[in-house]
Amino acid sequence: MPCIDRRSLLAGGLATAAVWRPLGLARAASFKADPFSLGVASGSPRTDSVVIWTRLILEDTSAATSADPFALAPKLVAEPVDVEWMVAEDEAFSKPVQSGLFRAVPEFAHSVHVEVKGLKPGRWYFYRFRSGNATSPVGRTRTAPESADAFRFAFASCQQYEQGFYSAYGDMAGKDLDLVVHLGDYIYERSYGAELIRRHQTGVPSLLYEFRDRYTLYKSDPQLQAAHAAFPWLAVWDDHEVTNNYAADRAPDAPNPLELLARRRAAYQAWFEHMPVSPALAGGFDALRIYDHYRFGNLLGLTLLDTRQYRSPPLLGSAAADQSERTMLGPAQEEWLGRALVGSQTKWNIIAQQTLLSERDTKAGPETGYNLDGWDGYRAARGRLLSAVQSSAASNPLVIGGDLHAFYAADVKRDFADENARPVASEFVCGSITSDAPSAASLSTALTENPHLKFASDKHGYAIMRLGERSAEVDFIGIADRKQQNSAAAVFQRFAVADGAAGVNRL
Ligand SMILES: [Fe+2]
Repeated sequence: MPCIDRRSLLAGGLATAAVWRPLGLARAASFKADPFSLGVASGSPRTDSVVIWTRLILEDTSAATSADPFALAPKLVAEPVDVEWMVAEDEAFSKPVQSGLFRAVPEFAHSVHVEVKGLKPGRWYFYRFRSGNATSPVGRTRTAPESADAFRFAFASCQQYEQGFYSAYGDMAGKDLDLVVHLGDYIYERSYGAELIRRHQTGVPSLLYEFRDRYTLYKSDPQLQAAHAAFPWLAVWDDHEVTNNYAADRAPDAPNPLELLARRRAAYQAWFEHMPVSPALAGGFDALRIYDHYRFGNLLGLTLLDTRQYRSPPLLGSAAADQSERTMLGPAQEEWLGRALVGSQTKWNIIAQQTLLSERDTKAGPETGYNLDGWDGYRAARGRLLSAVQSSAASNPLVIGGDLHAFYAADVKRDFADENARPVASEFVCGSITSDAPSAASLSTALTENPHLKFASDKHGYAIMRLGERSAEVDFIGIADRKQQNSAAAVFQRFAVADGAAGVNRL
């Protein structure tokens, strides 16, 4: 904590966060523990701007030892703290580009979100933060290019902390990438599985400070920090950032929609506080628009979708899955996506969403079974999405997803029952970073029952996509053992999609 005299604040009746200390005092603070222990991150890369992030950990340890009857939870330091940020062209900061002061406030858990503007396109930049006697690690980030003939990004999802180490992120941090896309399940609300190698230490979160604690734990991991510090990220949430299998205001473990909405509000705020996303999102957290479109020259357009916040309630049986009023994206996002696709002039068009878009019959033999929490529970909505893709004539549509804790590659079709139908898009789903995978038997059933599913694997890891003028290539990267720290990672399957010919090709 900074050496600001807490008692004098209290004595003056100025303990509320609304009363800010004058500039300079907090800057002069000397911290006893490193306030930058969660590392740094960047994101939302545009041609002229990028968001840089950190969060100061300033736990007021005096509260834990005091006889304060209101100390129900570990208290955060109640004062704002001024943080200096610096952006430079080089790692040594000998070529500074911009700097400024950001006032980190306790209302947002002393998180720092600075949208640095006026940058040059397609350039690497380095950034760091300083407050008092503390300096953050150096992060590296990259603006979106104005024009590009090649672009490389990693995508990842599902990183249950207790079920494995983040070797996949350690490997990713050493790669040559322009961007990382996270597709959800960045945190998990509860324990799952067996053979846990580390523990959450706290229960299922429902209040804001509880969600903050969960992010603090996950983001304390040095390999996750390394992957954040190395590249800009784009992130969208899935269900476990709030609670398992929720749909808008409904969830299996929350019978009362109002209770879930209160929990969701806390979860959305904590997500904002810990992600390198635009400071403009710091508004009302009852609803948080995270779907967005990014462009990387004429090569790549990338739409990030939110398939949780606006979806229709879950089904108990598959009979109603085709109902046209059922929505996955909600009407506003659906309409927005249609416009984004129509307006796209890029060679490759990626739809980044949470899970497998393609149909997946999970039952062997003539019987059928579907995952109703996925698009198979929202068939009419999937049809509308594919209609929008087709009618927009957006060039080379590619779909990426996560959620299933297994790698998949698929030919996306308008009619999955028609084996001769031409694919309308190519789909790649990354396996989980750590979360428990399904059985190998269930994956082989999926491949047998669904000819459009071309590949499946229960490995853990992540994927890299390289886009060029003539093809898109995808590497599936697996780690040897998620239960081991610094486990070796290797490419175990490669694919290519040719320009102008939808469909995945195994290399
Ligand atoms: Fe997951």
